Amino acid sequence: WTAGAVGLVIAYLFGSTPTGYLAGKLLKGIDIREHGSKATGATNVLRTLGKWPALVVLVADVLKGVGAIIVARSFCPWLYSELSPTPPTAFDLQIWVPWAVCLAGIAVLFGHSRSIWLNFTGGKSAATGLGVLLAMSWPVGLGAATVFGIVLAIARIVSLSSILAALTAIVLVCGFEQPLPYRLLVIGGGIYVIVRHRANIQRLLVGTEPRLGRSGPDTK
Ligand code: G3P
Repeated sequence: WTAGAVGLVIAYLFGSTPTGYLAGKLLKGIDIREHGSKATGATNVLRTLGKWPALVVLVADVLKGVGAIIVARSFCPWLYSELSPTPPTAFDLQIWVPWAVCLAGIAVLFGHSRSIWLNFTGGKSAATGLGVLLAMSWPVGLGAATVFGIVLAIARIVSLSSILAALTAIVLVCGFEQPLPYRLLVIGGGIYVIVRHRANIQRLLVGTEPRLGRSGPDTK
């Protein structure tokens, strides 16, 4: 339990690291939550600060997801073995590790969008979700990233690409052979990412969602 709780806290803190907010403060002295879509993710950084800061934030946000899953897969089992009075068997770990991955994945997604450093505000967890997927099951991550890239190339709307990538991940994790905790993580996390895009969905429905490369009106 202690090892699981430590993993959960580390994953939440990884997710909470306010990369987009820091980029705004350090590069322009602004609070990115007062600009564009108000989100702290790479898309709003692109809109507000430009290409290179957005690329750095994108990579950092993906790595937060990767890092949380690596901690759950390697550090937490080690801690579990150290703390347990009787060392866990390989079978124990085979059951336990996927659940640790599931909880860490949920925690890092939640941390990104509800950061402890930003009064529980943040981004929409799409990039961090991609990092989780790639570290959890690279074919699922690659499938979601491919759909993201294709939709972005055609429609040039990041939110639409993120939503369809999240749906793709849900379909793939159900179609591929995956442990139950991984399925729960991707279904729960995918729905969470889509719900975080509810304002974007409203704008998509009325045709006012800005396309890449156009600043568009300030949106909430
Ligand atoms: O990952 C977030 C992206 O899908 C949409 O961001 O700033 O356009 O709401 P934004």
